[in-house]
Amino acid sequence: MKSILVTGGAGFIGANFIRHLLAVDPGVQVINLDLLTYAGSLENLKDLPDAERHTFVQGDICDQSLVECLLRRHRIDTIVHFAAESHVDRSIHGPAPFVRTNIQGTFSLLEAARKVWLGEGMLPPDSVRFHHVSTDEVYGSLGPRDAPFCETTPYAPNSPYAASKAASDHLVRAYGHTYGLPFTITNCSNNYGPYQFPEKLIPLMILNALAGEPLPIYGDGLQVRDWLYVEDHCRAIHMVLREGQIGETYNIGGGNQPTNLELVQTICRLLDERFPDSPHQPHQSLITFVEDRPGHDRRYAMDTRKIQGQLGWQPRESLESGLRKTLEWYLGNERWIEVIRSRPSYRDWLERNYTARGTRA
Ligand code: NAD
Ligand code: DAU
Repeated sequence: MKSILVTGGAGFIGANFIRHLLAVDPGVQVINLDLLTYAGSLENLKDLPDAERHTFVQGDICDQSLVECLLRRHRIDTIVHFAAESHVDRSIHGPAPFVRTNIQGTFSLLEAARKVWLGEGMLPPDSVRFHHVSTDEVYGSLGPRDAPFCETTPYAPNSPYAASKAASDHLVRAYGHTYGLPFTITNCSNNYGPYQFPEKLIPLMILNALAGEPLPIYGDGLQVRDWLYVEDHCRAIHMVLREGQIGETYNIGGGNQPTNLELVQTICRLLDERFPDSPHQPHQSLITFVEDRPGHDRRYAMDTRKIQGQLGWQPRESLESGLRKTLEWYLGNERWIEVIRSRPSYRDWLERNYTARGTRA
């Protein structure tokens, strides 16, 4: 039985990953370490398949002695590290938690792994693995005709969030190079799907459109992201854990690259079809152009030939099929939405990020 420490497993991708792992891999037990910040919730872990193989621990990845204790107590052989502050706009409003969690937190996990795995010899060093979950944002922004990011593209992070993730990637690589810590890294593009916190573009637009509220598009809406359904990301990480080469990085992306405006128009079309009698028809009329995000990256696109060629991974969902599934999930999970929407901290965030933002003609 493999014993896997998942950090940030009560967040969007972490919770989807645990669900995937428990469903497809009977040979694992999962220890889930999550602080339950505003972005994490035990609601995301309800009705897990084979839930007795999952143990939840509320705690901070910056607490090195707690992590050491978990590594020893559960004889952890694999760390899959998702925990992070993940929202670019929040990193612009206040970068300090990003530096703490994303950099200091990753450092603390690496130190714990170095001490217990490499120092105490509890497990053979070739049986352990630190897998770090990162982002395409470390590579910066592409021009309209630039080739997609590949694994050797130089790092050029632009937001405090991206810079903190880049720093954490460098720390992981350095621990591999200097101490021989066995690691893999995945850099993934924009995810969407069930359980995504409605501060991110797709769930925010779905919920606003259902409520007949404005759909705030930053700037001219011609920025491009490379969208991937979360389940496809989880499968890719699982494949890298099983077959990825130690010390390697793998880029993951969906190959779907609409502009933000086109994406929101697609969501509006799906809602028009689903609710032909809605008073908010056509949902596109709710689109409002607002002041841009400072330092807004223009375009991301991922070259995924390495993971496709070496591990045989490819996405299964198209953008249209993934969006339909996502929409149905939010429609079927009103309670989950209400719990978040009723929190004062969520309303405060919307107020801080949107109310002060001017609208554009
Ligand atoms: P999320 O914000 O939904 O979840 C983050 C989770 O980490 C939450 O459950 C939170 O409680 C937990 N957490 C935060 N600080 C912690 C701490 N100090 N100790 C323990 N737990 C803590 O994030 P997500 O969208 O699921 O992203 C997960 C990871 O994937 C992040 O590392 C992010 O950088 C990366 N990533 C995200 C995307 C995306 O599109 N969402 C794309 C590529 C990579
Ligand atoms: O690229 C991977 C990254 O994708 C992850 O590393 C991050 O954790 C994740 O949050 C995401 O970052 P983005 O900034 O790309 O995602 P977000 O959903 O915040 O925004 C997507 C695009 O939509 C971006 O160009 C900004 C724009 N946008 C976003 C919001 C919330 C709007 O136009 N209006 C909005 O209200």
